[in-house]
Amino acid sequence: MKKSDLDIIASQLENPKGAKGLEMGDMMHATNIEMTKSAIAALSIENKDEVLEIGHGNAKHLKEIYSQANNLQYSGIDISDVMHKEAIKNAEAINAEAKFYLYNGGEFPFQEEVFNKIFTVNTIYFWKEPSNFLDEIYRVMRPKGIFTICYAQKDFMKRLPFVNEKFKLYNNEDIKDLILKSKFLLEDIINKSEEVKSKTGEVVTRNYSVAILKKEMFSKE
Ligand SMILES: C[S@@+](CC[C@H](N)C(=O)[O-])C[C@H]1O[C@@H](n2cnc3c(N)ncnc32)[C@H](O)[C@@H]1O
Repeated sequence: MKKSDLDIIASQLENPKGAKGLEMGDMMHATNIEMTKSAIAALSIENKDEVLEIGHGNAKHLKEIYSQANNLQYSGIDISDVMHKEAIKNAEAINAEAKFYLYNGGEFPFQEEVFNKIFTVNTIYFWKEPSNFLDEIYRVMRPKGIFTICYAQKDFMKRLPFVNEKFKLYNNEDIKDLILKSKFLLEDIINKSEEVKSKTGEVVTRNYSVAILKKEMFSKE
């Protein structure tokens, strides 16, 4: 594949746009669903939880969330207009009362301490200022809340032909360093692997992890 085509894949992964973005949303859903399930499982969702997902893509996985418990309130934020609209459509199709917010990728459109479960899958590579981003997540999270970050390992990502300078890659040590500098507590990192078809067609073994972070009872300042 030409470098220009690979760069288009990279841009579409960061911010899906137009008809190609819709296709990318479907492909991401199909290839990343196990990662999404892992991030959700690690949240230990309970009845009445207020859940926020950052970078939901087309949100075809909503059923997975609602099947965890009753009376959940789900909100999703994304920077892609196409994914935002697609998520609303997919939520309506299953009569889910999900709320979706399109935003600028920096400041969340929420008051302080409104969510008790937050998760994100395959977005950390695109965080522009990771420490500030973690501060923002911390701000909207209730004390004792749980935040899970699911990411493919740096060694795996480095081998993918479309991964370019737009991606910031992490291994578990990098994640630990990042979290140590934040106000969150790192509870655990769960390592997993699976066989997947890559965005360019070949079957590869993907090593990925779920970092489980907690906000303490009394906020750290
Ligand atoms: C690689 S896709 C992953 C989608 C889905 N979570 C998955 O794993 O299949 C990245 C998604 O995050 C969104 N995104 C990128 N940067 C973001 C940011 N700073 N905040 C929220 N969403 C972001 C993109 O628009 C896209 O929908």
